[in-house]
Amino acid sequence: MIEKGERIAIYPGSFDPLTNGHVDIIERGLKIFDKVIIAVLYNPSKKALFSVEERIDMIQKSFLTHSNQDSIMIDSFDGLLVDYARMKNAAAIIRGMRAISDFENEFQMALMNRRLNRDVQTIFLMTGLRWIFISSSIIKEVARFGGDISGMAPHPVKCKMKEKFPLLMGK
Ligand code: PNS
Repeated sequence: MIEKGERIAIYPGSFDPLTNGHVDIIERGLKIFDKVIIAVLYNPSKKALFSVEERIDMIQKSFLTHSNQDSIMIDSFDGLLVDYARMKNAAAIIRGMRAISDFENEFQMALMNRRLNRDVQTIFLMTGLRWIFISSSIIKEVARFGGDISGMAPHPVKCKMKEKFPLLMGK
């Protein structure tokens, strides 16, 4: 539950699926904000491996025993991110930045969002070095061909991936 006066940030994304890089950004965000809303985009034009419901379920399971569980909210949205941020009274949008390659697209989105709503700030958090090479796409590719993704995504994600890719190694 959100209390009056709390600093809220939205962490939006596709999360198809959640990775340990995402978890790292969420944990960093929780050091700055009272509440972080993980917001999964409904995007019918982007082909996803998991349905939004499956993605939300994996995220919920991944944070079930998290020490900061009460500060994390999980939701989905469609339409413009800034409209969703306004509806949630969020002060900021959090985005993770891995490398220079992320910069151009992120910069464009941040400027567009600022143009659309000057009341919500985009905050970039650096991904920890050990997650710098990890993305949802690369994890899916490795899993599809049976590679081991342990330590790259939370356990509930790995379990769900095994349903899609029976070749996937390990428990
Ligand atoms: O995990 P992703 O796919 O990089 O996340 C992209 C996301 C969801 C943040 C972005 O596509 C988004 O905000 N979509 C909502 C539509 C919108 O507001 N577009 C205008 C801003 S560019």
